[in-house]
Amino acid sequence: MRLRHNPKADIAVENSEYVEQDPKSRKSRWKEVFGNENPIHIEIGMGKGQFITTLAVNNPEINYIGIERVPTVLYKALRKQEELKLKNLILIAFNADEIGEVFEQGEVERIYLNFSDPWPKDRHASRRLTSPRFLEKYNGFLKKDGYIAFKTDNRNLFDYSLIAAAEAGWKTRNITYDLHNSEFNAGNIMTEYEVRFSSAGVPINRVEIYRD
Ligand SMILES: C[S@@+](CC[C@H](N)C(=O)[O-])C[C@H]1O[C@@H](n2cnc3c(N)ncnc32)[C@H](O)[C@@H]1O
Repeated sequence: MRLRHNPKADIAVENSEYVEQDPKSRKSRWKEVFGNENPIHIEIGMGKGQFITTLAVNNPEINYIGIERVPTVLYKALRKQEELKLKNLILIAFNADEIGEVFEQGEVERIYLNFSDPWPKDRHASRRLTSPRFLEKYNGFLKKDGYIAFKTDNRNLFDYSLIAAAEAGWKTRNITYDLHNSEFNAGNIMTEYEVRFSSAGVPINRVEIYRD
């Protein structure tokens, strides 16, 4: 997501009560942080936060954590949260490379990956958020019976992800290559990228990735 770097946004993110400043220190204690036993769902690469903020409004009985590595981008989500002050939403300005140090085994019930950066060059494949390297990290904290919900406009990344999941021993279900015209569209919340691509006529791919 390209946004002109905004130093004021960095400062606001670094000082906000809605942004967890030391996420690694919360490992295995996220329920305490939220102050309840509700399930935890996370979005990695949330961008400007439209998707996760809407989910948090619609589902007060679920705790949400939105992760975004670019503070200037995360700031857009922060502005929404400053208005809404949702008790079930926490933001993290963080590179998911270190996500294994943030969550304990079984701590997260669902991972949302929406329109993740495709990293089209083969030599960058391990940076893709659906690569075996990342699936291994998710395996360290995704609850049994939990799953990864992945949406993308990018057919190459989608096909790669299905293969990567199978090779890493994960299973896939509810696959669609045209989400908005499929049976899986009921209740779908659109992301910023999804609005942009679908209004340009690009079909959206979606899959759920899980373990037995
Ligand atoms: C293409 S945008 C999609 C944004 C949003 N999910 C949407 O659908 O509108 C991908 C976002 O993921 C973030 N991102 C990519 N790799 C990341 C990582 N390793 N850790 C955290 N955020 C990441 C990028 O900074 C960018 O904001």
